[in-house]
Amino acid sequence: MEWWQTGIVYQVYPRSFRDSDGDGTGDLPGIIAGLEHLVWLGVDAVWISPVYPSPMTDFGYDVSDYCAIDPLFGTLADFDTLVARAHALGLRVILDFVPNHTSDQHEWFIDSRNRRNGREDWYIWRDAAPGGGPPTNWLSNFAGPAWGWDDRRGQYYYHAFLPTQPDLNWRNPAVVAAMHDAMRFWLRRGVDGFRVDVMWMMIKDDQFRDDPPNPAWHPGMSSHDRLLPVYTADRPEVHDVVAGMRAVTDEFPARVLIGELYLPIDRLVTYYGLDGKGAQLPFNFQLLLLQDWSASAIADIITRYEAELPPGAWPNWVLGNHDRPRIASRIGPAQARVAAMLLLTLRGTPTVYMGEELGMIDTPIPPAAVRDPAELREPGKALGRDPERTPFPWTDAPGHDFTTGTPWLPFGADTPLSQQREDAGSMLQLYRRLTSLRRANPTLATGAITNVRADGPVLRYERTLGDRKSRVVLNLGVLPAAGWGGGKVAASTHSGRVGTALEGGWYLQPNEGVVLDIEPPG
Ligand code: NOJ
Repeated sequence: MEWWQTGIVYQVYPRSFRDSDGDGTGDLPGIIAGLEHLVWLGVDAVWISPVYPSPMTDFGYDVSDYCAIDPLFGTLADFDTLVARAHALGLRVILDFVPNHTSDQHEWFIDSRNRRNGREDWYIWRDAAPGGGPPTNWLSNFAGPAWGWDDRRGQYYYHAFLPTQPDLNWRNPAVVAAMHDAMRFWLRRGVDGFRVDVMWMMIKDDQFRDDPPNPAWHPGMSSHDRLLPVYTADRPEVHDVVAGMRAVTDEFPARVLIGELYLPIDRLVTYYGLDGKGAQLPFNFQLLLLQDWSASAIADIITRYEAELPPGAWPNWVLGNHDRPRIASRIGPAQARVAAMLLLTLRGTPTVYMGEELGMIDTPIPPAAVRDPAELREPGKALGRDPERTPFPWTDAPGHDFTTGTPWLPFGADTPLSQQREDAGSMLQLYRRLTSLRRANPTLATGAITNVRADGPVLRYERTLGDRKSRVVLNLGVLPAAGWGGGKVAASTHSGRVGTALEGGWYLQPNEGVVLDIEPPG
């Protein structure tokens, strides 16, 4: 088994993790200082959202140089220290890679606008439509048309996100070669893999056909969702691009390629690639996107996902990230404990978003403090991502030991790490118990998943490896519910259960989950 199969991934949003220099924004020395926490928590790899030079119009997802570190975050020397320190502590480092688009300040785009240095076709340039106006109806993910007019070229360029984030032309071999070299730059520095931003969007239709209207759209939805992205995402040729990136990571031993994919199960599994030569972990966001948090909906997702995995493919699960409302806000703090038990007992690599281990909730941001362009460009539709990006509260000291300055986003009301460490009943201590159980019990990390069922509000399944078996029984409801089967309690969301033996006729408390160990026969 590879480390990325047995391990747990932890996502750090660097601006909000820990600030070492008092400017109110987290940085690389801050991440280095925070690594001990990750070791204590029991995770195996840290995925770091972008730290490349950037004008920060999308907070780092607008990269102006793929082979350097933004001074806001530190230096390349800091990055090397981070990798060395992480490795010494037994942690892997996964870098966020943003290949779909650059910043409009990247020298490649400046060259392309000026048709110089052979970079004319490095971006997606098109003439105006015959009657004037944008060449297609394609829409930006951040409001408005996806075509920006450039006076210098007298042409439109395509931007799936902000006008300051022009899309690269991945049909151009020179772009492919340059991006592969950027990947090698970091692989040589010792990074253990990449999380690839918007992997499914990297190729657009070469015939530039209009996207069809979305019949389900209503005005409460983002303007981008007016159209179905039939010609702008999940195009067949994207798999060649992914295979090319995988070939680069495969030049180095034990590296991993993770793909960001907002796609339904039947589409996302195609990103494992032909003969498994795509992403090793195409992100499975089914739990992150789930509206109806119910035992039957989750049992259905697990069953369909397991059934659709191609042979040899390894599953993965995610509850949250820096783009979506936090799990504890979506389903409530008590149920978030059950969700943690679910995440850490399912078959497949779990990814934990920074602060989930504290049960962090979304923090309402007053209009004057809003930073996210998604909210600023389309206000009032709850599209803003600041609420899930608030700084990590390390202690209850002023500035929460996140910063000595003014934080770039306000703190929420979350209970700080230091306090939760002292409290055996805290979310943090539950998380730690669950990660250590997963580490100590290979059945949970690597065993098969069987008998997945919903029984009213109760979701249950078994994990088996050889003659070892664990049983997971989760009450997603707010009333007591009949348990299932028997066994010795190895973990519980509630106190007083661990170590007890349960046998027939037992009840789960509201929002309670338990992991039971079954003694091998004989
Ligand atoms: C996905 C990233 O996670 C998000 O934060 C970003 O705004 C878009 N891709 C554009 O890069």
